Amino acid sequence: MEIKPLTGAFGAEVFDIDLKSGINSEEVRLIDEALAENVVLVFRNQELDIDGFEKFAKTLGDFGDTPFITPVDGHPNVLRLLREPEEKGPLFGSGWHSDWSFQEQPPSATLLYALEVPEAGGDTAFTNQYLAFESLSESMQAILRGLKGLHSAERSYGPRGTFGRPDPDSSMNIQGDETAVVLQTHPMVRSHPLTGRQSLFVNEVYTVGIEGMTKTESDALLEFLFAHSRQIAFTCRVRWMPGTLTMWDNRATQHFAINDYAGSKREMYRITLAGEQPVLS
Ligand code: SIN
Repeated sequence: MEIKPLTGAFGAEVFDIDLKSGINSEEVRLIDEALAENVVLVFRNQELDIDGFEKFAKTLGDFGDTPFITPVDGHPNVLRLLREPEEKGPLFGSGWHSDWSFQEQPPSATLLYALEVPEAGGDTAFTNQYLAFESLSESMQAILRGLKGLHSAERSYGPRGTFGRPDPDSSMNIQGDETAVVLQTHPMVRSHPLTGRQSLFVNEVYTVGIEGMTKTESDALLEFLFAHSRQIAFTCRVRWMPGTLTMWDNRATQHFAINDYAGSKREMYRITLAGEQPVLS
């Protein structure tokens, strides 16, 4: 297995590995370490069916819980992210976020496998939340280490959220409900269990406030942090081909599905891996 950087900032491509033939425990260790360091890993030209995709994910960890979206029949841990050429409604994943950060134990990693992609467009963009935190002044870092963010699925899956009502024209079966309004508190800076590095753990879609602050105060600080995180030097972008599998570490990145492929079809399988309660140590 050979690992080469994807950009100067972060992300890596992994070569000389065939995921369908299974991976051994040493390869699992190398992938875990490479993911924690590089945040995003891209494996090209993989030939996986849904069982092979699930099997690879399972060698890396337990499956996470997937709320609000109906999974593939017979595969409760796999989502099909499907967008047909004529669809016009909101695109799943099209806002900066860290997957399911409103959960008590948000997923450690997400795996996305491309079945069919537009000739051009439909890339996924990522931020590096280690770099976003480390580039702040020591004074700001100290303030943030003392703060907790409030996370909620309401804006996406609440009754008035983006996906709050069933959309008959959508190829994905997304059902929001009242449970989305629950607030979950997480440290705004978390320590990565493998690298020990601290990362900024807030995201635009699910972080709705800061514990103990007024809305005006928290909106201003969060808006600053969101803009800080998405500056170009802290981002990378993955261009998909059929057979590309990308995995990312939700503890150290936000991502964004780019909605620039009207008229083309895009189809992916997606699995999340179970994570732990975020802590700052
Ligand atoms: C996601 O947010 O999990 C989906 C990303 C994508 O479709 O590119």
